[in-house]
Amino acid sequence: MRTHVVDHPLVAHKLTVLRDQHTDSPTFRRLADELVTLLAYEATREVRVEPDDIVTPVAPMTGTKLASPKPLVVPILRAGLGMLDGMMRLLPTAEVGFLGMVRNEETLEAATYAERLPDDLSGRQCYVLDPMLATGGTLAAAIRFLTDRGADHITCVCLLAAPEGCDNLERALEGLEVPVTVVTAAMDERLNEKGYIVPGLGDAGDRLYG
Ligand code: PRP
Repeated sequence: MRTHVVDHPLVAHKLTVLRDQHTDSPTFRRLADELVTLLAYEATREVRVEPDDIVTPVAPMTGTKLASPKPLVVPILRAGLGMLDGMMRLLPTAEVGFLGMVRNEETLEAATYAERLPDDLSGRQCYVLDPMLATGGTLAAAIRFLTDRGADHITCVCLLAAPEGCDNLERALEGLEVPVTVVTAAMDERLNEKGYIVPGLGDAGDRLYG
């Protein structure tokens, strides 16, 4: 598993406002959307492309277009939904699949309550959207869903990650042959006893949708 922390002053600025407890829901939603678009630029660095023959007003040339099959974008409900528009802005032709997962706040285990994904993901690149990588349980389960159906390249886009969660995720993916990359705006200090990222930004789902 590869982890990429996006180091950019605009990302740092927007993330700081997002974290602030005084930032209201409308502002939080707008900033999350903007941040995801910035992260998406980095997250799509390995998106598959193929040659495209075109003619400019001046001359023919061979350019580049997104390869088939189209990438699949998977927001993890509920909070990942707040990242979908920001991602689709850069990948407007991508297909979208949905996973509904909720973490039990006592056991911190992730449970799946909804799933709407293509049955066959053979040869597909997938972009999983989830703002928080806390214990890593949710992303580990989501990645298994996708690779069990044949996805062969996974990129997770997160706003925040905790070091413990990244370690757990790496352990959970041991033996998996599919390359997995986590792209995040920040690697925070730690998890607290409730499994919240510290300093974090609180509960992303609540801050997005109240
Ligand atoms: C939060 C968050 C992640 C998950 C991270 O979702 O949005 O999906 O917890 O935790 P983990 O890394 O420890 O598994 P939550 O379960 O609160 O659901 P929500 O998105 O509906 O608010």
